[in-house]
Amino acid sequence: MLEIKKLSKRIGKTLILERIDLTVQAGRSLAIVGESGSGKSTLAKLIMALERPTSGQILLDGIPAPTNKTSDFRSWYRQIQFVFQNTTASLDPRMTISQSIEEPLCHFTKLNKSERKELVIEYATKVGLPLTLLNAAPSHLSGGQYQRACIAKALIVKPKVLVCDEIVSNLDMIHQHTIIELLQQLKAEQQLSLIFITHDLSLVANLCEDILVMKDGRMVEIFDSDFIQTGSHHPYTESLLHAVEILRRNWIAL
Ligand SMILES: Nc1ncnc2c1ncn2[C@@H]1O[C@H](COP(=O)(O)OP(=O)(O)O)[C@@H](O)[C@H]1O
Ligand SMILES: [Mg+2]
Repeated sequence: MLEIKKLSKRIGKTLILERIDLTVQAGRSLAIVGESGSGKSTLAKLIMALERPTSGQILLDGIPAPTNKTSDFRSWYRQIQFVFQNTTASLDPRMTISQSIEEPLCHFTKLNKSERKELVIEYATKVGLPLTLLNAAPSHLSGGQYQRACIAKALIVKPKVLVCDEIVSNLDMIHQHTIIELLQQLKAEQQLSLIFITHDLSLVANLCEDILVMKDGRMVEIFDSDFIQTGSHHPYTESLLHAVEILRRNWIAL
């Protein structure tokens, strides 16, 4: 269970996040939706303990996120893995795909080389990455293949939480949907809590149980995705839903 308690983040004089308060139960998944600049990535960085909050707390199964040199960053980094937007900077260009996927195992486990290689093949297969690409450099992969490799690298250490920040935003619609189907399947298989960040509300209804809508660093609303169409929502959420509906109608019209 991931608990976020009264979390705020100030950078200089600007309040980037204001009193974020929510719980993600084990095995449930959360979508964080909001327009660009609403504070989604900042919240992600705090959850991943890459940045520190100004006030408030984050706990995973009752254990607080590490904040200073003496705390246990290693354990947190193993349990909360992440995949970022495809910036082509996530994988080391000097390493093969196989070496990149294997790297967290060297860092977090004592497995020997042949055990590590076996897991690399298992996870590449799980994410649908052709094994012929394992010895390739990252620059040889398509956008979708690149994200699959990043997902394999994140999941190979069996984290409790996977944070995905705009990971399908640069992909075309077909590849967006195949990656989302993959995440759906993996979260069931691995008992994983997924935190899926996107500016596109239309992507998340079938993927996440809960949806958090953010605006200007604040929580607008958090609701069960079963009630996405039927519930009564905050006017800002309604405007996002309306935009999705217009897009859908235009696709049908095409
Ligand atoms: N290091 C920083 N210094 C100053 N402002 C920042 C910094 N990082 C983010 N911000 C500001 O915080 C706000 C939220 O940014 P971000 O979390 O990246 O939003 P999102 O991911 O929703 O687009 C934006 O207005 C952004 O300009
Ligand atoms: Mg962002």
